[in-house]
Amino acid sequence: MKIFIDTAEVKEIEEINRLGILDGVTTNPSLIAKSKRKFKEVVGEICKIVDGPVSMEVLSTNFDEMLKEAKEYSKIAENIVIKIPLIPEGIRCVNELTNLGIQTNVTLCFSAPQALLAAKVGATYISPFIGRIDDLGYNGMELISEIRSIYDNYNFPTQILAASIRHPLHFKEASLLGANAVTVPYSTLKMIFKHPLTDIGLDKFLEDAKNIIL
Ligand code: G3P
Repeated sequence: MKIFIDTAEVKEIEEINRLGILDGVTTNPSLIAKSKRKFKEVVGEICKIVDGPVSMEVLSTNFDEMLKEAKEYSKIAENIVIKIPLIPEGIRCVNELTNLGIQTNVTLCFSAPQALLAAKVGATYISPFIGRIDDLGYNGMELISEIRSIYDNYNFPTQILAASIRHPLHFKEASLLGANAVTVPYSTLKMIFKHPLTDIGLDKFLEDAKNIIL
């Protein structure tokens, strides 16, 4: 399973990348705004840090404008993936980008039929938003399972990129259900390392190590 980080903070990306576990990066307009950096500049910098796919979202919602943005952004670096919202004009744009050989990540997916439409037009990735479904009192993880079954039934090559991940359990369940990739915020990635028995065990080993005869 591929691990992506869901952030536009360069320092977070550099830190996680150094661990050797990072396969790619996803951003969205909210994360870019939070970084307080210039849009194309910060994404260009991220693309230099990470070899894998870096998702960059279009800011417009009509076909012509989205296509224009996508063509422009795809020139920033070879590893740019164009993130497109799951709306009719977006699906039309993904179809065009597939024909042009430009990689896409269809975002804001909240249902299996939506994911099927994205696969039909050759999306490289589909991003189901798990946490936001959970927030409404439904089980977001069921969506991963449904999309997995549909894509496997018809051999769709679109990769399931589980998004809106809020805690390590989401990360574990998405991998058990066969998501191809999971995009995880920095704070959640740090949480995965945390286990009280790891900390207690390490403290004891370090204490006992003082008595080792060297
Ligand atoms: O980048 C898309 C997604 O991961 C957003 O997550 O936490 O804002 O629902 P969240």
